[in-house]
Amino acid sequence: MQRTVLPAIAFALAVTLGSSLAAPVDYKTPDETAAFRPGPNLEMVQGNCAACHSSDYIATQPPMKDKKAFWQAEVTKMIKVYGAPIADADVGKIVDYLAATY
Ligand code: HEC
Repeated sequence: MQRTVLPAIAFALAVTLGSSLAAPVDYKTPDETAAFRPGPNLEMVQGNCAACHSSDYIATQPPMKDKKAFWQAEVTKMIKVYGAPIADADVGKIVDYLAATY
């Protein structure tokens, strides 16, 4: 009996001691390196697009002929394929921002 109880007590003690002695770790996360470019409806895009990925995904798209059609399709894909919770009424404003800014 003692053989099984003692290690358990020792383990519990070690855990209790360990957590009470652990000093709080103070650290700073690095600044966000990518930010959405300024433009009309910027806040709407930050609120709707930055939840899942950084603005890098938007800034690194290849040059495109029809920006509006491209971004319309892209925003639709985020909603339909990836389940982005974006209100229908906001889609036009987001597409306008993206087409004008990227
Ligand atoms: C619900 C999560 C979610 C939200 C919100 C979201 N995206 Fe995405 N997005 C994704 C995922 C997942 C991918 C694919 C990632 C991968 O392939 O590695 C992606 C990829 C992308 C890409 C890369 C090209 C592509 O088609 O894969 C672009 C551009 C993009 N998103 C733009 C946007 C824009 C603009 C918004 C806001 C209107 C937005 N995303 C909001 C999940 C989201």
